[in-house]
Parts: sequence; structure tokens; C-alpha cells
Amino acid sequence: MPFAPEGESLSNDGMDRRDFLVGAGLLAVTPTAASAAQGLDWGAVRREFRLDPALTNLGLFYLASNPHEVRAAVEEFKRRLDANSHDLMPEERQAVAVALGQYVGGAPDDVAFVPNTTVGLSIVYGGLKLRAGQQVLLSDQDHAWHRQSAELAARRAGAEVRIGTLFENSAKVTEDEVATRLRNAITPQTRAVGITWVQSSTGVKMPVRSCAQVVAEANRGRTPQDRCLLVVDGVHGLAAVDDDAARLGADVFVAGTHKWLFGPRGTGMVWVNPEVSDQLAPLLPSFDNRSETALLGPGGFHAFEHHFAVQAAVRFHQRLGRGRVAGRITELATRFKDGLAETPGVVVHTPRDPAASAGLVCFDVTGLAGDEVVARLEPKRIQITTAAYRIPYARAGTSILNTPEEIDRTLAEIRALTR
Ligand SMILES: Cc1ncc(COP(=O)(O)O)c(C=O)c1O
Repeated sequence: MPFAPEGESLSNDGMDRRDFLVGAGLLAVTPTAASAAQGLDWGAVRREFRLDPALTNLGLFYLASNPHEVRAAVEEFKRRLDANSHDLMPEERQAVAVALGQYVGGAPDDVAFVPNTTVGLSIVYGGLKLRAGQQVLLSDQDHAWHRQSAELAARRAGAEVRIGTLFENSAKVTEDEVATRLRNAITPQTRAVGITWVQSSTGVKMPVRSCAQVVAEANRGRTPQDRCLLVVDGVHGLAAVDDDAARLGADVFVAGTHKWLFGPRGTGMVWVNPEVSDQLAPLLPSFDNRSETALLGPGGFHAFEHHFAVQAAVRFHQRLGRGRVAGRITELATRFKDGLAETPGVVVHTPRDPAASAGLVCFDVTGLAGDEVVARLEPKRIQITTAAYRIPYARAGTSILNTPEEIDRTLAEIRALTR
């Protein structure tokens, strides 16, 4: 057995837990007939995690809880490092690159390891060969740390960050609207466009492919030094949306693996289109010399047991199936949005259409600020959040670890707030 857990028991009969997941457990029981995510016992999936059973946690996307398999992997790598910290296991670094590459539909050499989305974005903008007078174009819905990463880099280069508005009303956003506004905002000086795959401020899933097409049109006739790169903050899409992140048409995809993927805390990735890797210079020393892109990953010693165990999180998701995971997330988000839409006094800011949304649902309760909604649900043992950096709508994330009953209970408590 590859990852003998220390101090944690296997399934009752001592069977390898991986067999348990594939065989008798997760795949055995069919949930609802209408489920988009048929064929998995989601209760068994949830039991792999050490969640507080008394809490309805609709904020599981915030910072991952880890399944048994990931915890066991961390323990095993820790044991090896404790035995001999000179054993830095380059083969495991390669295995993580292969696993992440496979999961996003890209090559292992095009993946760099970073501790989180914020550092990943900072390394990308900081390393981008940006000249004085050039611009980085972001939207008003990108995360504050995305914006700051770009601003810090632009300031050093004598460049500027421009903030555009890519849609008027998040709940009614259309692909055409985003593409048209983006086309109109790009200038010959635009060296990078930064967008967010699934916005944590609105829950909108951005049409990355359409944006990529607009950027490609803008790039016609440009030299590599002037080429506009499309940078995607993908943290709320990775392991929530059934798509190949490396095939969305973006040049750079950055995501923490410690949110929807359930990877160890303090882990993340950057994928770079090999056609543009020469446009990004490393910002920090690195000893990950697998490739030009790998060198973007900051060096020095890290909590390697966490980094190496990312492969266990990928394996966990691959066994569940990316389509089934996204299907379950969507099913729960739709249930929640439908319930909110039927509630007088509640305004939903996330599109109802699953094609324009994923697992984040933002809403308002008339007369209450978002953080008041959070505070009123807390004594009911319901955890939701707000996006503090933007208009702080109340926000819930539907994870595969949540249940339809939790969604219904939360809806009932929200209804009670409107009376
Ligand atoms: C859209 C978005 N980008 C980036 C971040 C920062 O992520 P990380 O903690 O991985 O740096 C967040 C925060 O949760 C976020 O919502």
C-alpha cells in the first residue's frame, strides 16, 4: 500500500482505501435518479473528511479540508522527510507535475508549483516582461490580491493597470457582452488581460474561450514582446468545472490547489502556454529545473510533504470523475439558486444558467448587509461568507461534501430572515 496512514485506520476490513473508494464504497449507491452526478455515494465521499458534523458548511471552498487519502499522503511524505531530510524526492515532484498536467489537460513541464493563487499571480505579473507605458487590463470583479499582484508589478515596470467593467448585471451576463466589452477595452499597449474563471465576488463563470478569441484577434500582427497574454485566476474553477483548464485558450492559468481540489493547504499551481513561456522570467530563485516554466516556482525549502501530496488530491478527484464532481456541485448550486429565487426579499446575483456559473452563489437579503446575513446564520450553525474585497454579497459555495438537506435547511433559515 503506497500511503500507510500513521495513526489512522483503514476501512474496517483493512482493505486498501483506494479499493474502498473505487469498489464497494463510493461507486455503489446511486443517489437521486435525476441527479446529474449519478453513481456516487456522496455520503461515503463526505466520510473521507473530518468535517464538523454539526456545521452546515457552505464555505468549504475557502481553504480545503483534506480527505483521508491526502492526509495519509502528507503523513507518509513527512515520515520520509523526518527520516532523512536530504531525501527531497525529485521523482515525487515530477509525479505531482504529471498529475496536475493530466488533470488540467496540459504537459507536466508547463506546470510550476506555487504556495497559493496569490503568489502564483504575483510571480506571473512580476515575471512578465512588461515595458514602461504598457498596460495590464483587469476587470472590476477580479480578486483584490489579483489586482494588487498586477499593480505591484506594473509599478515596478512603469506600466499601469486599467480596470474595466465586463458586464453590467452579473445575474444576466452574456458571453457576447463580455467579449464586446473586452474587445473595446484592449489597446495596442495592453500586454496582459487578467480575468477570473469563476468570480468569488459574483459567482459568474467567465467565458474564457471567448475572451481568448478576443485576445487572439488583438494579437494579430504583434511581436512576441508586445503580445497580449490572457492570465486566468482559476482557483474557483479548478475541480469545480468539468473542463481542461489548459485548453481554455488562456496563456497562463493560476490556481491554488487548496480549495475545490482538496489539496493540502499552502499548495497551488501555475500552467503556462509553452508558446509564451519565454515572456515570463522567474522572480525568485528556484531549484525546480524540470523546465523553463517550472523555474517560475519559488525555491528555498518548503513544506514538501504538502506539495508532494497534491498528487493524492488529484487521484481522489480523478476517481470521483471531474464530470461527476462538477455535476454534483451544479446540482446543489441550482437547488440553492432555485430556492433563493422563490424567496421574496432575496436577490440572486449569480446567473441561474449553469453555463455561466459554477459552485459559488452570491445573493442579497433585502434590508440586511451580506455580513449580517453571515452573522445571523452563524448561531444556526450555518457557515456562509461574503467577498469582503468587493460588494460584500452574502455568498455560499456548494461543495460535493454538502448535501441537498443542508441546502434546504439553509434556504429555510434564509426565508426566516426575510419575515
Ligand atoms: C478569485 C480568488 N482569487 C484568489 C484568491 C486567493 O487565493 P489563495 O489563497 O490561493 O492565494 C481568492 C481567495 O480566496 C479568490 O477568491
